[in-house]
Amino acid sequence: MSNVIEMTHPLIQHKITRLRDKNTGTAEFSSLVEEIAMLMGYEALKDLPLEEIEIETPIETCKSPVIAGKKLAIVPILRAGLGMVSGVQALVPTAKIGHIGLYRDEVTHIPHEYYCKLPNPISERLIVVTDPMLATGGSAIAAVDFIKQHGGKKIKFMAIIAAPEGLKKLQEAHPDIQIYVGHIDRELNENAYICPGLGDAGDRIFGTK
Ligand code: URA
Repeated sequence: MSNVIEMTHPLIQHKITRLRDKNTGTAEFSSLVEEIAMLMGYEALKDLPLEEIEIETPIETCKSPVIAGKKLAIVPILRAGLGMVSGVQALVPTAKIGHIGLYRDEVTHIPHEYYCKLPNPISERLIVVTDPMLATGGSAIAAVDFIKQHGGKKIKFMAIIAAPEGLKKLQEAHPDIQIYVGHIDRELNENAYICPGLGDAGDRIFGTK
């Protein structure tokens, strides 16, 4: 799985275990999602291009690197992807935020778009798509399709938990994107929930049921 990067950092693994625990409440759950997104973002952004600028320190003038060119767009898939935005945004406060709203047909599990608003133009930006759960892959594939239709070229996808089935489908549909996952779980169940997973990420982030 060459374009899949699975996180191995012990802090990420520890925090994922806290997420999985059904006794972890909303406040802790949403903080953990944000923290994991930041740690994953640190890894996902390690190839950001740099350029040298000249600055004056209190001692002398020197050349020093800054992030080059147009910066980042973070695009959460609504609603659970929203929980990861602040973690990545803390790393790159100048990032623009797009939103993609998809709902999943409860019977067919096929995703339908109900909202798509992206920074314009999107073509020069590195786009980080966030969704804590990469389950069937349907929403992820559709979201990346929409972003590409709007001109997006350099796309990274970040999920905290992935099912092998969805990961494979996303890779096959979009072999050109890099996929960062906190952990690859065992399988999907008959209701398209990830096992062992953590339940419904959106409900647990926002305290809904
Ligand atoms: N979405 C979730 O929130 N959880 C799953 O297990 C699968 C999809």
